[in-house]
Amino acid sequence: MSQAVLILGGSGRTGSLVARRLVEHGIRARTASRRGSDVFFDWDDPATYPGALTGTDRVYLVTPVLRVRYAGQVAAFLDQAEAAGLRHVTFLSTYNGDRAPHEIDIAAVEADLASREAFTHSILRPAWVMQNFTDDHLPVINGTLTVPSGGGSEAFVDAADIAAVAVETLLNPGAHAGARYALTGPQAITFDDVAATIAAVSGQPVVYKDIDQEAWINGAVAVGLPADYAVMLRWLTGAIIAGDGSEPTGDIEAVAGRPSASFEAFARRNAAAWTTPEDK
Ligand SMILES: NC(=O)c1ccc[n+]([C@@H]2O[C@H](COP(=O)([O-])OP(=O)(O)OC[C@H]3O[C@@H](n4cnc5c(N)ncnc54)[C@H](OP(=O)(O)O)[C@@H]3O)[C@@H](O)[C@H]2O)c1
Repeated sequence: MSQAVLILGGSGRTGSLVARRLVEHGIRARTASRRGSDVFFDWDDPATYPGALTGTDRVYLVTPVLRVRYAGQVAAFLDQAEAAGLRHVTFLSTYNGDRAPHEIDIAAVEADLASREAFTHSILRPAWVMQNFTDDHLPVINGTLTVPSGGGSEAFVDAADIAAVAVETLLNPGAHAGARYALTGPQAITFDDVAATIAAVSGQPVVYKDIDQEAWINGAVAVGLPADYAVMLRWLTGAIIAGDGSEPTGDIEAVAGRPSASFEAFARRNAAAWTTPEDK
């Protein structure tokens, strides 16, 4: 029987979709995380690595979230995976991940993968994910969406499109060996556009409010975001404020064979996320 694909972050937004689609293709997928997956996997407990890796030969690599330092853990995991016969890794990086500030280990993980010859790899570099607006990352509070942007734009991408590309790389690693895919939606839009779209699909007034970048980051840290993660938020929002947000690429269509979803289509599909409980 062929080996399974190990899906790290298997209970997360992209990992859960990657696993489901692989199964639809008749491929065994093993989800791994601390809660709600097939196997218990904790980046902070290397004793959980071998059990997750057993019987797998491809990995969807999602690094620990809300952290900036994890390259050592990823290297230790990849050493074990290599020894266990790993063939391919698809890494969920970030848009412009190779240019991430050195305080964040994104570029370090990309470089680690590029330095290894025992297995192939593909790197996915998504723009800001549309699902940020439907979970608690970028909520609409009292009809207001508050994010620092300076009027800049971003080509937000649907997590389902990231998963579709990941699945292609895991089904056919040889065809995507060494690939770096910049995954975006079909248009770069502003947060004013986002608010207007949410208002239209939910039938409720929603406005966008720009905010000072440091005030927003300090607010996030005050309510529990790890203080050292501020560098990540500063980098991500700084790109948009500087007018250097993501621009549409054709990578999703080229790999998945269909255009990426627009924010409007995503918002229509998820309109219930923005209606008040009494409207639901
Ligand atoms: N949000 C965006 O706009 C955006 C854009 C580009 C790239 N990204 C990248 O996308 C990645 C997140 O992927 P996602 O959105 O698919 O996942 P997600 O929905 O954020 O979920 C995170 C997954 O990782 C697992 N996890 C977190 N900490 C872990 C730990 N210490 N040990 C083991 N598992 C752990 C979680 O499960 P448990 O908590 O149960 O362990 C969960 O399955 C991040 O690397 C982020 O930088 C995000």
